[in-house]
Amino acid sequence: MKTLIIYASKYGATAEIAKRIGDKINGSSLYDIKGGNCPPLDGFDNIIIGSPLYVGNVRKEIKEFIAKNESILKGKKFALFLSGCEPNKGAEYFKNNFPEGVLQAAKAAVFVGGLYDPKKSGFLDKLLLKIAAKKSDYFENIDGSKIDKLVEAMGS
Ligand SMILES: Cc1cc2nc3c(=O)[nH]c(=O)nc-3n(C[C@H](O)[C@H](O)[C@H](O)COP(=O)(O)O)c2cc1C
Repeated sequence: MKTLIIYASKYGATAEIAKRIGDKINGSSLYDIKGGNCPPLDGFDNIIIGSPLYVGNVRKEIKEFIAKNESILKGKKFALFLSGCEPNKGAEYFKNNFPEGVLQAAKAAVFVGGLYDPKKSGFLDKLLLKIAAKKSDYFENIDGSKIDKLVEAMGS
């Protein structure tokens, strides 16, 4: 069973989560959606797609990818994950960012948590995070048990 893990990441947290998921799945490949051409999806049985949240939104490239490949995804085993600082809003973020049919067809839709480092962040992002989530300090809330849950769901 071959698995493709497709992700977007602005500061590296979602890339790190994607890598941690990949480390737990034999025969998986990672694909950074900004990194050129996507490998042909017909070469994969399983697909996992992940995005960080920025002011309530998943990355545009991920939204576009899902819109373009919705019917292909529905013919495969696939799962979604989100990276962000507000796990209590996970359900709302999924509902607002993905078509209902995609959420229903997904094996799992998991909010994994995220990481924010103000040292890496530009002025505008600092301001936006303050407005979006009232946060300004370093945080890391990546939940390993959520990663396990996602991997398990893909295995079943
Ligand atoms: C400008 C900005 C806005 C953010 N907005 C949200 C948000 O609306 N909800 C949330 O849960 N996390 C939010 N976050 C937290 C990021 O989603 C989190 O740090 C994520 O792990 C970053 O992933 P990345 O490094 O792969 O880009 C925001 C962070 C920044 C810097």
